[in-house]
Amino acid sequence: MLSDDAIDWVIDNYTRGRVADEQMSALLMAIFLRGMTPGEITRWTAAMVNSGERFDFTDLERDGRPLALVDKHSTGGVGDKLTIPLVPVVIACGAAVPQAAGRGLGHTGGTLDKLEAIPGFSAELTKTQIRQQLCGVGAAIFAAGELAPADRKIYALRDVTATTESLPLIASSIMSKKLAEGARALVLDVKVGRGAFLKTEAESRELARTMVELGNDYGVPTRALLTDMNRPLGLSVGNAVEVAESLDVLAGGGPADVVELTVALAREMLAAAGIDGVDPAETLRDGSAMDRFRALVAAQGGDLSLPLPIGAASETVTAPRGGVMGDIDAMGVAMAAWRLGAGRAQPGEPVQLGAGVRLHRRPGEPVAAGETLFTLYTDTPDRLPAALGELDGAWSVGDAPPQELPLIIDRID
Ligand code: URA
Repeated sequence: MLSDDAIDWVIDNYTRGRVADEQMSALLMAIFLRGMTPGEITRWTAAMVNSGERFDFTDLERDGRPLALVDKHSTGGVGDKLTIPLVPVVIACGAAVPQAAGRGLGHTGGTLDKLEAIPGFSAELTKTQIRQQLCGVGAAIFAAGELAPADRKIYALRDVTATTESLPLIASSIMSKKLAEGARALVLDVKVGRGAFLKTEAESRELARTMVELGNDYGVPTRALLTDMNRPLGLSVGNAVEVAESLDVLAGGGPADVVELTVALAREMLAAAGIDGVDPAETLRDGSAMDRFRALVAAQGGDLSLPLPIGAASETVTAPRGGVMGDIDAMGVAMAAWRLGAGRAQPGEPVQLGAGVRLHRRPGEPVAAGETLFTLYTDTPDRLPAALGELDGAWSVGDAPPQELPLIIDRID
């Protein structure tokens, strides 16, 4: 068992560069293999919060009232672009969102990589800019920077040492950033299934409970939804392709599962922020969420009038027979997108903004022989064969629809 002093020492000295990556990798692997006690997780998380600044926006007001500061974070999924439509929906309903967002980790995408597909968009915001945006457009989506800097280093190290799929490391990584970013309430989207970091419902439930307790103990009321991640969310997996799909949702269309989860998470955020009597779904119908998104992107230097990037080379996968689209394995699609260049093989490496996979059929939809089921995009054509290989066996066309899976499995608070 790690003592409180040992935890404080190693986090502090690793952040300052006095503990080598090799030594930290060995400790991360030990944690990955053996887990941590609840007491160790609490102390590890606190040490990560204390490794940097903790924002406080409680003095900010709009119309003479304190801002209703609330955020959400996902444990990482495939096609999980939810932040992009969700933030404008909740600010259109009166909340304010300070969001420290991350880059892709392992097979999952990151909000910052996706938003940077918008020409000009910058997530490198100063504290003054964040404060101004919270009072003005109502939200700021920023790179964690000096918040929990221990996480920035540990996150990158986990990515290259195969230690991402660890409950204590996921819980402390997420909660250290979220407890430092200045939100007064938090909603977690905890993923369950093949495309999640933790595959079983039991593990995901434990992760959700651990993070909810960490948040509540810190005085940040926290609740979680357990949601399905066996299949990709929506019909796009990548960076720019996911922004394009988010714009469809903000325009009142988009895939039903993305809309359903956006509205469900928005309801949770609004309830957590103490805002009632507003219907978040209405903001997608009346265009107010789209207006907020445009204002947010413009505030962060982005230009939505310019085209989003799309990979110069593409390849399609077609249906070998007619029938019904079967299950689609989120992990196969994630790995295909990663091979196309949408994710990183080395820390700090640039991602291809235009790389990704478009899905043309959802599980259960009718399929005609020869029709296109997937389109793959990349700027590097020699990546296509490996990506096609990842999709092999990740989908099927059959005679009967696959089992229906509930998108929202449970709620934990
Ligand atoms: N998101 C994070 O910020 N950290 C993790 O470990 C997983 C998802």
